[in-house]
Amino acid sequence: MDPISIQVNGRSFSRQAEPRMHLGDFLRDELHLTGTHLGCEHGVCGACTVLVDGQPTRSCITFAVACEGREITTIEGYEDDAVMRRLRQAFTHHHALQCGFCTPGMLTTARDIVLRLPEADEACVRLELSGNLCRCTGYQGIVDAILDVLQQQRVSPDAQFEQLRQRLTAPRSVAMTRVAAVAPVGSASPSTSNSAPSSSKSAASASSAAADMAEVDPVAMAKAKAKGNAIDVHFDVPYPVDRVWEFMGDLPVVASCLPGATIDSHEGERVKGTIAIKFGPMSAAFAGAARLERDDAAKRAVLRGAGQDSLSKSRTQGDISYRLEALSVDNTRVHVDMIYALQGPLAQFSRSGLVKDFVRRMVADFGKQITRRLGGQAVSTNEPQPTVSMAAMMWSVLWNRIRGWLGKPPRP
Ligand code: FES
Ligand code: FES
Repeated sequence: MDPISIQVNGRSFSRQAEPRMHLGDFLRDELHLTGTHLGCEHGVCGACTVLVDGQPTRSCITFAVACEGREITTIEGYEDDAVMRRLRQAFTHHHALQCGFCTPGMLTTARDIVLRLPEADEACVRLELSGNLCRCTGYQGIVDAILDVLQQQRVSPDAQFEQLRQRLTAPRSVAMTRVAAVAPVGSASPSTSNSAPSSSKSAASASSAAADMAEVDPVAMAKAKAKGNAIDVHFDVPYPVDRVWEFMGDLPVVASCLPGATIDSHEGERVKGTIAIKFGPMSAAFAGAARLERDDAAKRAVLRGAGQDSLSKSRTQGDISYRLEALSVDNTRVHVDMIYALQGPLAQFSRSGLVKDFVRRMVADFGKQITRRLGGQAVSTNEPQPTVSMAAMMWSVLWNRIRGWLGKPPRP
């Protein structure tokens, strides 16, 4: 058991918690705040969403001990909140709930939407709500309620509402330390924007900001590995190992095989780059810096770096290792091992297998492009960015759960 001191709904609590206890269980079982509902416990349904330091957070995939010193707001904590007052009335007026199971998480997300996106239209509201599932309402009432609150604030502004909006949009410092900014391949994040993922301007400025950041934190990497944030994939290329290794040494060319990736500069072992990713309805543009260490004799290399998404402010750091194995004279297997740590919105999804699924698809596309390029074909710049079907991934999560119940190991 670890000691934990946190603020919940404006009150201080000190308790003991098992390191593996998630925040949702801690709130419900230790503090008896049962307004936080737990549905999937995989970070998928959004029922358990609470605010952690003002940010909507999945409490089912956030360790309680990781919230030491943080401020948590649960659905019980909005008594005097001007935004929630309007949302509650609008939810009632538009019949935006039936059984009410999703409602605490839905209201928390709705509050975030109306504060953060004053001009949101219906399409935007639906996109922003896509991380919260409701099995009863069909969503129309929820969407109408949110649009209604946005309109109310436009025609009859509430001062406290406006203050909360300004507080939320005020610039905040990035908490992650000792982190540079590259785009480890397995990085994506739910964006808070409707816009295209890669504004080259914002990516470039994030990239230059990233250049000043420091090295990957080995302690964070060890923790990430212990938490299972590691992916081991491979692809085969029908070319001799020496030719593939030579090809893999040309980083800008290799990056051109990865949809959405660009190398902005490459000096010695220092690399700066960007990567734009579309993850179902979510978009991200990571920019950052990394160090490439190559071992020509062993045909092995590791790229250590970190990156930040300029839109959602999700941050990631990681090691991407690749090594070549000669399968035959004309065939090479490329092994790719990644260890990554995530902070910010994407961390909400990292335990559910969504990120791993995404990266596997991305690496498979990468292998196909490398094969084409080695065969003398130009890489198509029109290829769509890798996208992942949320429905397919949720099915994969459920399927692995069923396999677990049957005593079978989850599919990798
Ligand atoms: S219970 Fe946390 S996202 Fe479903
Ligand atoms: S109101 Fe029943 S799950 Fe949303």
